[in-house]
Amino acid sequence: MSLVTLKEILKYTREDHYAVPAFNFNGYEDAQGMVNCADQMRSPIILMASMGATKYIGLKQIVGMIKGMAESVDIPVCLHLDHATDIELIKAAVAAGFTSVMIDASKKPYEENICMTKTVVHYAKQYGCSVEAELGRIGGREEHILVDDMSAALTDPDAVPRFVRETQVDALAVAIGTTHGFYKNEPQLDFERLREIVALTKCPLVLHGGTGVSEKDFKKCVEIGISKINVGTEFKAAFSHTIRSAVNDISESEIDPRYYMKSVKTVCADVTRTKIEIFGSSNRA
Ligand code: G3H
Ligand code: ZN
Repeated sequence: MSLVTLKEILKYTREDHYAVPAFNFNGYEDAQGMVNCADQMRSPIILMASMGATKYIGLKQIVGMIKGMAESVDIPVCLHLDHATDIELIKAAVAAGFTSVMIDASKKPYEENICMTKTVVHYAKQYGCSVEAELGRIGGREEHILVDDMSAALTDPDAVPRFVRETQVDALAVAIGTTHGFYKNEPQLDFERLREIVALTKCPLVLHGGTGVSEKDFKKCVEIGISKINVGTEFKAAFSHTIRSAVNDISESEIDPRYYMKSVKTVCADVTRTKIEIFGSSNRA
């Protein structure tokens, strides 16, 4: 299938009580493992490139690679630019063929966040590209964005309706107690806050910082109304650990890089399978 937008892929999530998995990829093997597994399970999937990944791989190269993967399977695949703080990069990604972008102006004051998000929505809509924004500040480190514990702030439910109405975003990332990266202590999610937000808007909601969240908490978030769940660090670690063990296990005389890299596909497919089962997205394609 051709790449689909975020708006399209999230359409029935809330009423049908499932969330679409959204995974950060950093190369070919992890992305291929994710897509192949989603295809086997008949699950829609969102593949996310961080700003760092776009610099490492290249915007056009990413579009070519993921478009090719999407066209060779029969499930909806959305290509999303994750946590972008640079409007010029967003414009370039939209023009290159990304079907969704996230403008992360969550560190800015509320009015400025609205203003920047509106600018991005106006631009992206002309290309039929979806937009995700963030309200509140999700803690932890997401590559170039560091939000320390003191500046992390949970989303104020009362700020949501106006934000969604004025910006016309297709999805909204909310801060309800998850953080980016590995957790030092088990996260304490504010389900009551999430319930309040769900009651105040029909806009699909996004849970960031999926690495380390328990199965029980994921399921509760989906039950309450989360539509998209982001997982990044767990895949990064799986990718790197797999290469490390391949280098240790395979004879030095082996010079075919595929012998070292191929298990990245299987390991990333395994992580994908577990998440799809928890998020309830299999057979929703
Ligand atoms: O936007 C990306 C995600 O929120 C990833 O979070 O690396 O903690 O899984 P994570
Ligand atoms: Zn995130």
